[in-house]
Amino acid sequence: MNRDDFNILNNDIVYFDNGATALKPKILAATISDYYNNYSANAHRGDYGISLKVDVMYATAREKIRVFINAKEQSEIIFTSGTTDALNKIIFGYFRHTLQKDDEVIISKMEHASNILPWFELVDEIGIKVKYIESSEYGIDIIALEQLMTSKTKVISLAHITNVMGDIRDIKAIASLAHRKGALLVCDGAQSVPHMKVDVQDLDVDFLAFSAHKMCGPTGIGVLYGKKTLLNNIHPIIFGGGMNASFGSDGVRVYSELPELLEAGTQNIAGVIGFASIIDYLNELGMDKIERYEQELKAYAIEKLSEVKDIIIYNGNSQSGIITFNIKDVFAQDLAIYLDKYHICVRAGSHCARITKEQLGVKNTCRMSLYFYNTKEEIDYLVKVLNNPNLKSEIIL
Ligand code: ALA
Repeated sequence: MNRDDFNILNNDIVYFDNGATALKPKILAATISDYYNNYSANAHRGDYGISLKVDVMYATAREKIRVFINAKEQSEIIFTSGTTDALNKIIFGYFRHTLQKDDEVIISKMEHASNILPWFELVDEIGIKVKYIESSEYGIDIIALEQLMTSKTKVISLAHITNVMGDIRDIKAIASLAHRKGALLVCDGAQSVPHMKVDVQDLDVDFLAFSAHKMCGPTGIGVLYGKKTLLNNIHPIIFGGGMNASFGSDGVRVYSELPELLEAGTQNIAGVIGFASIIDYLNELGMDKIERYEQELKAYAIEKLSEVKDIIIYNGNSQSGIITFNIKDVFAQDLAIYLDKYHICVRAGSHCARITKEQLGVKNTCRMSLYFYNTKEEIDYLVKVLNNPNLKSEIIL
Protein backbone atom coordinates (compact mmCIF):
# COMPACT_ATOMS: atom_id res chain seq x y z
CA MET A 1 0.00 0.00 0.00
CA ASN A 2 1.08 3.58 -0.79
CA ARG A 3 4.69 2.76 -1.60
CA ASP A 4 4.99 5.86 -3.80
CA ASP A 5 4.68 8.00 -0.68
CA PHE A 6 8.09 6.79 0.51
CA ASN A 7 11.12 8.23 -1.19
CA ILE A 8 13.40 5.67 0.44
CA LEU A 9 11.55 2.83 -1.30
CA ASN A 10 12.91 4.07 -4.63
CA ASN A 11 16.20 2.67 -3.42
CA ASP A 12 17.07 -0.98 -3.70
CA ILE A 13 15.91 -1.85 -0.20
CA VAL A 14 13.54 -4.30 1.45
CA TYR A 15 12.70 -2.86 4.83
CA PHE A 16 11.47 -5.35 7.39
CA ASP A 17 12.52 -3.53 10.57
CA ASN A 18 9.36 -1.61 11.32
CA GLY A 19 9.31 -2.75 14.92
CA ALA A 20 12.45 -0.69 15.43
CA THR A 21 11.21 2.30 13.45
CA ALA A 22 8.95 2.84 10.48
CA LEU A 23 9.88 4.54 7.21
CA LYS A 24 8.81 8.13 6.71
CA PRO A 25 6.48 9.33 3.93
CA LYS A 26 7.42 12.45 1.98
CA ILE A 27 4.72 14.47 3.72
CA LEU A 28 6.66 14.26 6.98
CA ALA A 29 9.82 15.93 5.70
CA ALA A 30 7.69 18.48 3.81
CA THR A 31 5.75 19.40 6.95
CA ILE A 32 8.83 19.67 9.13
CA SER A 33 10.72 21.59 6.49
CA ASP A 34 7.79 24.03 6.21
CA TYR A 35 7.99 24.66 9.97
CA TYR A 36 11.75 25.22 9.99
CA ASN A 37 11.74 27.30 6.80
CA ASN A 38 8.62 29.40 7.30
CA TYR A 39 7.45 29.78 10.89
CA SER A 40 10.10 28.35 13.21
CA ALA A 41 9.11 30.22 16.38
CA ASN A 42 8.76 28.80 19.87
CA ALA A 43 5.39 27.75 21.29
CA HIS A 44 3.52 29.37 24.19
CA ARG A 45 5.98 32.24 24.48
CA GLY A 46 5.47 34.78 21.71
CA ASP A 47 2.84 37.44 21.03
CA TYR A 48 3.61 37.69 17.34
CA GLY A 49 2.18 36.02 14.27
CA ILE A 50 4.46 33.09 13.62
CA SER A 51 4.57 32.15 17.31
CA LEU A 52 0.79 32.26 17.50
CA LYS A 53 0.69 30.04 14.44
CA VAL A 54 2.95 27.56 16.25
CA ASP A 55 0.58 27.64 19.23
CA VAL A 56 -2.31 26.76 16.96
CA MET A 57 -0.39 23.97 15.20
CA TYR A 58 0.75 22.55 18.56
CA ALA A 59 -2.76 22.56 20.02
CA THR A 60 -4.19 21.12 16.81
CA ALA A 61 -1.67 18.26 16.98
CA ARG A 62 -2.74 17.44 20.51
CA GLU A 63 -6.37 17.40 19.44
CA LYS A 64 -5.63 15.13 16.46
CA ILE A 65 -3.88 12.68 18.75
CA ARG A 66 -6.71 12.86 21.27
CA VAL A 67 -9.17 11.90 18.55
CA PHE A 68 -6.82 9.24 17.16
CA ILE A 69 -6.81 7.29 20.44
CA ASN A 70 -10.23 8.57 21.56
CA ALA A 71 -9.08 10.16 24.81
CA LYS A 72 -11.71 12.21 26.59
CA GLU A 73 -9.73 15.41 26.96
CA GLN A 74 -6.74 17.12 25.37
CA SER A 75 -5.16 17.45 28.81
CA GLU A 76 -4.85 13.66 28.92
CA ILE A 77 -2.37 13.82 26.02
CA ILE A 78 1.16 14.66 27.16
CA PHE A 79 3.95 15.00 24.61
CA THR A 80 7.09 13.08 25.52
CA SER A 81 10.23 12.14 23.63
CA GLY A 82 8.83 8.65 23.03
CA THR A 83 7.51 5.54 24.72
CA THR A 84 10.49 5.20 27.04
CA ASP A 85 10.14 8.76 28.27
CA ALA A 86 6.39 8.30 28.71
CA LEU A 87 6.80 5.10 30.72
CA ASN A 88 9.46 6.72 32.91
CA LYS A 89 7.17 9.69 33.55
CA ILE A 90 4.31 7.36 34.46
CA ILE A 91 6.39 5.16 36.73
CA PHE A 92 8.48 7.86 38.43
CA GLY A 93 5.87 10.62 38.28
CA TYR A 94 2.89 8.61 39.45
CA PHE A 95 3.76 5.20 40.85
CA ARG A 96 6.82 6.33 42.81
CA HIS A 97 4.39 8.42 44.86
CA THR A 98 1.55 5.95 45.18
CA LEU A 99 3.19 2.54 45.66
CA GLN A 100 4.43 1.31 49.01
CA LYS A 101 6.80 -1.39 50.20
CA ASP A 102 5.61 -4.89 49.23
CA ASP A 103 3.06 -3.61 46.72
CA GLU A 104 3.16 -5.79 43.62
CA VAL A 105 3.58 -4.91 39.96
CA ILE A 106 2.85 -7.59 37.40
CA ILE A 107 4.77 -7.51 34.13
CA SER A 108 5.89 -10.29 31.77
CA LYS A 109 9.33 -11.45 30.76
CA MET A 110 8.45 -10.47 27.19
CA GLU A 111 8.42 -6.76 27.99
CA HIS A 112 10.76 -4.26 26.43
CA ALA A 113 13.45 -2.75 28.70
CA SER A 114 11.52 0.47 29.23
CA ASN A 115 8.66 -1.44 30.85
CA ILE A 116 11.03 -3.37 33.13
CA LEU A 117 13.97 -1.23 34.23
CA PRO A 118 11.97 1.65 35.77
CA TRP A 119 10.06 -0.92 37.87
CA PHE A 120 13.36 -2.46 39.01
CA GLU A 121 14.36 1.01 40.18
CA LEU A 122 11.24 1.15 42.36
CA VAL A 123 12.09 -2.29 43.72
CA ASP A 124 15.37 -0.81 45.00
CA GLU A 125 13.91 2.51 46.03
CA ILE A 126 10.62 1.57 47.67
CA GLY A 127 10.72 -2.18 48.05
CA ILE A 128 7.89 -3.01 45.65
CA LYS A 129 7.79 -6.54 44.21
CA VAL A 130 7.87 -7.37 40.51
CA LYS A 131 5.99 -10.52 39.53
CA TYR A 132 5.95 -12.13 36.10
CA ILE A 133 2.95 -13.46 34.27
CA GLU A 134 3.62 -16.21 31.71
CA SER A 135 3.35 -14.96 28.17
CA SER A 136 3.50 -16.78 24.85
CA GLU A 137 2.80 -16.20 21.18
CA TYR A 138 -0.88 -16.66 22.08
CA GLY A 139 -0.80 -13.80 24.59
CA ILE A 140 -1.59 -13.93 28.29
CA ASP A 141 -3.91 -16.37 30.01
CA ILE A 142 -6.38 -14.22 31.89
CA ILE A 143 -7.15 -16.93 34.44
CA ALA A 144 -3.45 -17.34 35.22
CA LEU A 145 -3.20 -13.58 35.56
CA GLU A 146 -6.08 -13.49 38.00
CA GLN A 147 -4.48 -16.28 40.01
CA LEU A 148 -1.20 -14.38 40.17
CA MET A 149 -2.87 -11.28 41.58
CA THR A 150 -3.15 -10.69 45.32
CA SER A 151 -4.52 -7.89 47.43
CA LYS A 152 -1.02 -6.36 47.14
CA THR A 153 -1.17 -6.17 43.33
CA LYS A 154 -1.49 -2.49 42.51
CA VAL A 155 -0.36 -2.38 38.88
CA ILE A 156 -0.32 -4.54 35.79
CA SER A 157 2.08 -3.11 33.22
CA LEU A 158 2.13 -4.81 29.83
CA ALA A 159 2.86 -4.23 26.20
CA HIS A 160 -0.22 -4.38 24.02
CA ILE A 161 1.89 -6.15 21.39
CA THR A 162 5.27 -7.48 22.44
CA ASN A 163 8.23 -6.57 20.27
CA VAL A 164 9.73 -10.07 19.93
CA MET A 165 6.84 -12.55 20.15
CA GLY A 166 4.40 -10.16 18.54
CA ASP A 167 1.52 -11.53 20.58
CA ILE A 168 -1.48 -9.24 20.93
CA ARG A 169 -2.66 -9.10 24.51
CA ASP A 170 -6.35 -8.82 25.29
CA ILE A 171 -5.84 -5.45 26.95
CA LYS A 172 -9.56 -4.81 27.36
CA ALA A 173 -10.02 -7.99 29.39
CA ILE A 174 -6.83 -7.35 31.35
CA ALA A 175 -7.94 -3.79 32.18
CA SER A 176 -11.30 -5.08 33.33
CA LEU A 177 -9.63 -7.70 35.55
CA ALA A 178 -7.19 -5.14 36.97
CA HIS A 179 -9.99 -2.75 37.86
CA ARG A 180 -12.16 -5.46 39.39
CA LYS A 181 -9.21 -6.28 41.66
CA GLY A 182 -8.40 -2.68 42.50
CA ALA A 183 -5.27 -2.41 40.34
CA LEU A 184 -4.30 -0.08 37.50
CA LEU A 185 -3.23 -1.00 33.99
CA VAL A 186 -0.28 0.60 32.23
CA CYS A 187 -0.19 -0.25 28.53
CA ASP A 188 2.93 0.04 26.40
CA GLY A 189 1.43 0.76 23.01
CA ALA A 190 4.70 1.20 21.10
CA GLN A 191 4.04 -1.80 18.86
CA SER A 192 0.23 -1.59 18.72
CA VAL A 193 -0.79 2.03 18.17
CA PRO A 194 1.00 2.13 14.76
CA HIS A 195 -0.72 -1.02 13.55
CA MET A 196 -4.30 -1.12 14.82
CA LYS A 197 -7.09 1.09 16.06
CA VAL A 198 -6.42 1.74 19.75
CA ASP A 199 -9.30 3.33 21.64
CA VAL A 200 -8.28 4.17 25.20
CA GLN A 201 -11.84 4.54 26.42
CA ASP A 202 -12.96 1.24 24.93
CA LEU A 203 -9.89 -0.59 26.29
CA ASP A 204 -10.21 1.35 29.56
CA VAL A 205 -6.43 1.56 30.03
CA ASP A 206 -5.27 3.84 32.82
CA PHE A 207 -2.05 4.86 31.10
CA LEU A 208 -0.81 4.37 27.54
CA ALA A 209 2.61 5.14 26.05
CA PHE A 210 3.58 5.23 22.37
CA SER A 211 6.09 6.71 19.92
CA ALA A 212 5.58 8.62 16.68
CA HIS A 213 8.60 7.15 14.94
CA LYS A 214 7.16 3.63 14.82
CA MET A 215 4.10 4.98 12.98
CA CYS A 216 5.92 6.84 10.17
CA GLY A 217 6.39 9.94 12.32
CA PRO A 218 9.49 11.75 13.52
CA THR A 219 11.91 10.40 16.10
CA GLY A 220 12.03 12.12 19.48
CA ILE A 221 8.31 12.54 19.94
CA GLY A 222 5.76 10.34 21.64
CA VAL A 223 2.75 10.39 23.88
CA LEU A 224 1.86 9.69 27.45
CA TYR A 225 -1.88 9.19 27.79
CA GLY A 226 -3.35 8.99 31.27
CA LYS A 227 -6.86 9.22 32.65
CA LYS A 228 -7.37 12.74 33.94
CA THR A 229 -8.24 11.53 37.43
CA LEU A 230 -4.82 9.84 37.63
CA LEU A 231 -2.83 12.56 35.89
CA ASN A 232 -4.22 15.01 38.44
CA ASN A 233 -1.99 13.21 40.94
CA ILE A 234 1.12 12.83 38.79
CA HIS A 235 4.27 14.69 39.81
CA PRO A 236 6.44 16.30 37.18
CA ILE A 237 9.91 14.80 37.00
CA ILE A 238 11.26 17.66 34.88
CA PHE A 239 11.02 21.22 36.14
CA GLY A 240 11.57 24.50 34.30
CA GLY A 241 10.01 26.98 31.94
CA GLY A 242 6.59 26.30 30.53
CA MET A 243 5.41 24.19 33.46
CA ASN A 244 5.01 26.96 36.04
CA ALA A 245 2.55 29.79 36.47
CA SER A 246 4.71 31.70 38.96
CA PHE A 247 7.59 31.40 41.42
CA GLY A 248 9.39 33.71 43.80
CA SER A 249 12.78 33.94 45.53
CA ASP A 250 11.17 32.52 48.68
CA GLY A 251 10.65 29.25 46.84
CA VAL A 252 6.91 29.66 46.63
CA ARG A 253 5.80 28.47 43.21
CA VAL A 254 2.65 27.62 41.38
CA TYR A 255 2.84 25.02 38.69
CA SER A 256 0.79 24.96 35.50
CA GLU A 257 -2.21 22.79 34.80
CA LEU A 258 -2.02 19.69 32.65
CA PRO A 259 -0.79 19.11 30.03
CA GLU A 260 1.83 21.89 30.37
CA LEU A 261 2.71 20.66 33.86
CA LEU A 262 4.47 17.69 32.28
CA GLU A 263 5.96 19.53 29.31
CA ALA A 264 8.76 21.66 30.78
CA GLY A 265 11.20 23.41 28.48
CA THR A 266 10.98 24.05 24.78
CA GLN A 267 9.30 21.04 23.32
CA ASN A 268 10.01 19.15 20.14
CA ILE A 269 7.79 21.48 18.13
CA ALA A 270 8.86 20.21 14.72
CA GLY A 271 8.22 16.69 15.99
CA VAL A 272 4.75 17.55 17.26
CA ILE A 273 3.76 19.27 14.02
CA GLY A 274 5.25 16.45 11.96
CA PHE A 275 3.44 13.90 14.10
CA ALA A 276 0.13 15.65 13.37
CA SER A 277 0.73 15.33 9.64
CA ILE A 278 1.27 11.61 10.15
CA ILE A 279 -1.95 11.26 12.10
CA ASP A 280 -3.74 12.75 9.08
CA TYR A 281 -1.82 10.42 6.80
CA LEU A 282 -2.68 7.28 8.76
CA ASN A 283 -6.31 8.35 9.13
CA GLU A 284 -6.52 8.69 5.38
CA LEU A 285 -5.08 5.21 4.91
CA GLY A 286 -7.40 3.84 7.59
CA MET A 287 -6.13 1.98 10.65
CA ASP A 288 -8.58 -0.87 10.03
CA LYS A 289 -7.28 -1.26 6.51
CA ILE A 290 -3.67 -1.21 7.74
CA GLU A 291 -4.43 -3.90 10.31
CA ARG A 292 -6.23 -6.15 7.82
CA TYR A 293 -3.48 -5.80 5.24
CA GLU A 294 -0.74 -6.62 7.76
CA GLN A 295 -2.61 -9.71 8.93
CA GLU A 296 -2.86 -10.92 5.35
CA LEU A 297 0.85 -10.27 4.81
CA LYS A 298 1.76 -12.01 8.07
CA ALA A 299 -0.21 -15.12 7.12
CA TYR A 300 1.48 -15.15 3.72
CA ALA A 301 4.92 -14.69 5.26
CA ILE A 302 4.42 -17.53 7.75
CA GLU A 303 3.22 -19.85 4.99
CA LYS A 304 6.21 -19.06 2.76
CA LEU A 305 8.87 -18.92 5.48
CA SER A 306 7.75 -22.26 6.87
CA GLU A 307 9.11 -23.85 3.68
CA VAL A 308 12.62 -22.45 4.23
CA LYS A 309 15.19 -25.12 5.05
CA ASP A 310 16.35 -25.19 8.67
CA ILE A 311 14.21 -22.24 9.72
CA ILE A 312 12.92 -22.02 13.28
CA ILE A 313 9.96 -19.66 13.62
CA TYR A 314 9.21 -18.77 17.23
CA ASN A 315 5.85 -17.08 16.84
CA GLY A 316 3.99 -18.46 13.85
CA ASN A 317 0.72 -18.14 15.74
CA SER A 318 0.97 -14.59 17.00
CA GLN A 319 -1.40 -12.15 15.34
CA SER A 320 0.80 -9.12 14.67
CA GLY A 321 3.20 -8.43 11.81
CA ILE A 322 6.22 -9.45 13.87
CA ILE A 323 7.98 -12.69 12.90
CA THR A 324 10.91 -13.93 14.94
CA PHE A 325 13.13 -16.66 13.58
CA ASN A 326 16.52 -18.24 13.31
CA ILE A 327 18.20 -20.53 10.82
CA LYS A 328 19.52 -23.61 12.55
CA ASP A 329 23.24 -23.32 13.41
CA VAL A 330 23.47 -19.72 12.19
CA PHE A 331 24.08 -16.87 14.63
CA ALA A 332 21.23 -14.35 14.35
CA GLN A 333 23.47 -11.35 13.79
CA ASP A 334 25.41 -13.17 11.07
CA LEU A 335 22.13 -13.92 9.36
CA ALA A 336 21.10 -10.25 9.54
CA ILE A 337 24.44 -9.24 8.00
CA TYR A 338 23.97 -11.86 5.27
CA LEU A 339 20.48 -10.50 4.53
CA ASP A 340 21.88 -6.98 4.37
CA LYS A 341 24.14 -8.11 1.52
CA TYR A 342 20.87 -8.65 -0.35
CA HIS A 343 19.52 -5.28 0.83
CA ILE A 344 17.07 -6.81 3.28
CA CYS A 345 16.81 -5.04 6.64
CA VAL A 346 15.85 -7.09 9.69
CA ARG A 347 16.81 -6.72 13.34
CA ALA A 348 18.93 -9.31 15.15
CA GLY A 349 19.80 -9.77 18.80
CA SER A 350 17.67 -9.57 21.92
CA HIS A 351 15.65 -6.59 20.67
CA CYS A 352 15.94 -4.63 23.96
CA ALA A 353 13.87 -7.39 25.57
CA ARG A 354 16.69 -9.10 27.39
CA ILE A 355 14.70 -11.40 29.66
CA THR A 356 12.47 -12.68 26.87
CA LYS A 357 15.10 -15.41 26.49
CA GLU A 358 13.97 -16.88 29.81
CA GLN A 359 10.59 -17.64 28.20
CA LEU A 360 11.68 -18.16 24.63
CA GLY A 361 14.65 -20.37 25.48
CA VAL A 362 16.92 -18.53 23.03
CA LYS A 363 18.81 -15.28 23.44
CA ASN A 364 19.39 -14.02 19.92
CA THR A 365 16.91 -14.07 17.09
CA CYS A 366 16.23 -12.38 13.78
CA ARG A 367 13.08 -10.36 13.63
CA MET A 368 11.17 -9.17 10.60
CA SER A 369 8.42 -6.72 11.35
CA LEU A 370 5.94 -5.67 8.71
CA TYR A 371 4.11 -2.48 7.88
CA PHE A 372 1.56 -1.47 5.31
CA TYR A 373 4.11 -0.67 2.58
CA ASN A 374 5.59 -4.18 2.63
CA THR A 375 4.51 -6.54 -0.12
CA LYS A 376 4.17 -10.24 -0.86
CA GLU A 377 6.88 -9.80 -3.50
CA GLU A 378 9.29 -8.63 -0.80
CA ILE A 379 8.44 -11.67 1.27
CA ASP A 380 9.04 -13.92 -1.76
CA TYR A 381 12.42 -12.27 -2.21
CA LEU A 382 13.34 -12.84 1.45
CA VAL A 383 12.35 -16.49 1.13
CA LYS A 384 14.46 -16.82 -2.03
CA VAL A 385 17.49 -15.31 -0.28
CA LEU A 386 16.99 -17.57 2.75
CA ASN A 387 16.67 -20.58 0.47
CA ASN A 388 20.01 -19.85 -1.15
CA PRO A 389 21.82 -23.22 -1.05
CA ASN A 390 25.06 -21.31 -0.38
CA LEU A 391 23.65 -19.40 2.60
CA LYS A 392 25.79 -21.03 5.26
CA SER A 393 28.97 -20.90 3.22
CA GLU A 394 28.39 -17.25 2.34
CA ILE A 395 28.00 -16.48 6.04
CA ILE A 396 31.19 -18.34 6.94
CA LEU A 397 33.03 -16.33 4.27
N1 ALA B 1 11.85 -1.34 20.76
C1 ALA B 1 12.31 -1.22 19.44
C2 ALA B 1 12.44 -2.56 18.80
O1 ALA B 1 11.76 -3.47 19.16
C3 ALA B 1 13.52 -0.42 19.38
O2 ALA B 1 13.21 -2.73 17.90
